[in-house]
Amino acid sequence: MLNRYKKNSEKIAMGLLSFMPEGKDVKKLQQTIKEYETNEDWHLYLWKEDDDVIGAIGLRVDGDKAIIQHISVNPSHRNVGIGKKLIQEIRKLYEPRYELHAVDTIQQYFQRCIQDDDSAN
Ligand SMILES: CC(C)(COP(=O)(O)OP(=O)(O)OC[C@H]1O[C@@H](n2cnc3c(N)ncnc32)[C@H](O)[C@@H]1OP(=O)(O)O)[C@@H](O)C(=O)NCCC(=O)NCCS
Repeated sequence: MLNRYKKNSEKIAMGLLSFMPEGKDVKKLQQTIKEYETNEDWHLYLWKEDDDVIGAIGLRVDGDKAIIQHISVNPSHRNVGIGKKLIQEIRKLYEPRYELHAVDTIQQYFQRCIQDDDSAN
């Protein structure tokens, strides 16, 4: 289930975002989380299953665009479709109001999820 990030999940969110290619820089990671907490155009969601937080997806809204800038799944839960599910849920939430995009590092995965999703419908 997708939940909006809350500060009491800061550690787990940072842990998940640290799996992103640029996530090894702790200072930058702290700035990123702070931006999600304070900037109303930055939206972070966590994916919870059986009380465990196992995925994260973050976007930045810019005018009529929403740009996915972070996506991460706990390594123990990869390759079972959770990342795809995160994208699906974000599409449901954002596509009615925004043109959905992804940053370069996520682009290939994003397009692939969209194609799978659209061909299933
Ligand atoms: C990318 C990520 C979120 C995918 O999550 P997931 O829940 O394992 O993804 P799914 O189960 O929905 O899909 C798995 C498929 O995506 C593919 N995939 C994984 N990372 C990919 C990438 N960066 N680009 C394209 N495809 C990718 C897998 O090879 C797998 O392919 P298969 O079905 O042919 O075996 C996860 O691998 C992750 O957290 N990676 C580290 C964070 C990261 O680098 N994020 C940015 C890159 S997208």
